Amino acid sequence: MLLTPFPHEGYRAGRLGRTNTILRPDNFIAEPDAGGDLAATVHVPVLPAETLDGLAPRPGGRYIDGTLGGAGHAALLLERSAPDGRVLGIDADPAALARVRARLAGAVAAGRLIPRQGNFAQIAQLAAAAGFSPADGILLDLGLSSDQLADRQRGFSFAADAPLDMRFDPTRGPSAAELVNTLDETALADVLYRYGEERRSRPIARRIVERRARASIERTGELAGLVAGVIHGRPGGIHPATRTFQALRIAVNDELGSLEAALPAALDLLAAGGRLAVISFHSLEDRIVKRFFQAEERGCVCPPELPACVCGRAPRLRILTRHPIVAGEDEQARNPRARSAKLRVAQRLETSSP
Ligand SMILES: C[S@@+](CC[C@H](N)C(=O)[O-])C[C@H]1O[C@@H](n2cnc3c(N)ncnc32)[C@H](O)[C@@H]1O
Repeated sequence: MLLTPFPHEGYRAGRLGRTNTILRPDNFIAEPDAGGDLAATVHVPVLPAETLDGLAPRPGGRYIDGTLGGAGHAALLLERSAPDGRVLGIDADPAALARVRARLAGAVAAGRLIPRQGNFAQIAQLAAAAGFSPADGILLDLGLSSDQLADRQRGFSFAADAPLDMRFDPTRGPSAAELVNTLDETALADVLYRYGEERRSRPIARRIVERRARASIERTGELAGLVAGVIHGRPGGIHPATRTFQALRIAVNDELGSLEAALPAALDLLAAGGRLAVISFHSLEDRIVKRFFQAEERGCVCPPELPACVCGRAPRLRILTRHPIVAGEDEQARNPRARSAKLRVAQRLETSSP
């Protein structure tokens, strides 16, 4: 198998009015007894009111949640678009879909929630197949869910010893163990530096290569211990392996490449006036979203020294969040995931419907 550390290569590298959305994810569509434990989610959606305001759902609308996760946002979209709004919920993770099918069985049976397994990089094909083209709103809430982090067998967390996997879709692509045991030392260090902003990337990569020469590294505990032997964490600081784990997860799931593929496809899918909301959790993602929005708002890509436009590209969207929306202190205290969340929202221009 060909393993590439930067599968997305080619990537060059406000505030909306608040409303008091009440978080009632299951008061109208969940089957109270459906699914038991299978249906339980520990994920708390970030910026719920702000995201809903950004997407402005309405009855009868068609919405795509490209990162269904625990369906926190999707349930709110269903609630706000009642009685007949519909949501196509996409997730790469079959376990997330199974949970949502059980938890929101009523909405699925009513045809209002359509769960589909897949990568949001293929949002155009998934939407077309489900009859969601054009769509009135699209949400991407990036990264991993608390359900995935809490599942000890998935290998996302160094808090528990588990197989070093980290794939959102465990049926596809190389696992974190495959990357750690096959990338050469330079490529490994580059992954840690670029995706984890890990300043000690080179000594960590060297230690990994030395260790795997004796036996392959297969468990999260081994990797976390090895990194902790290179970086000595400070009391009260983050675990020394935090950046290494983030970097590997981003590489394993080609998270930046998927985002770069999804943004133009999502914009193409939107109806005139439709909205695109993206929640990111680190600067690499947020930069991609910010630059995409800015480029599509500008339209013209001619060099500034040209006296007149020759590219003919017209603006396709309007940015609704001049600055990213971040969580307030209350939400950050209630939901630690919200601390690094940044929400950006844009609206497809009337003149450029598909
Ligand atoms: C932060 S969680 C979403 C949580 C959700 N908004 C909620 O309120 O419950 C992100 C989810 O997106 C999924 N995901 C991440 N990247 C993906 C991709 N490229 N394609 C499809 N799903 C993806 C993950 O498996 C995870 O379940």
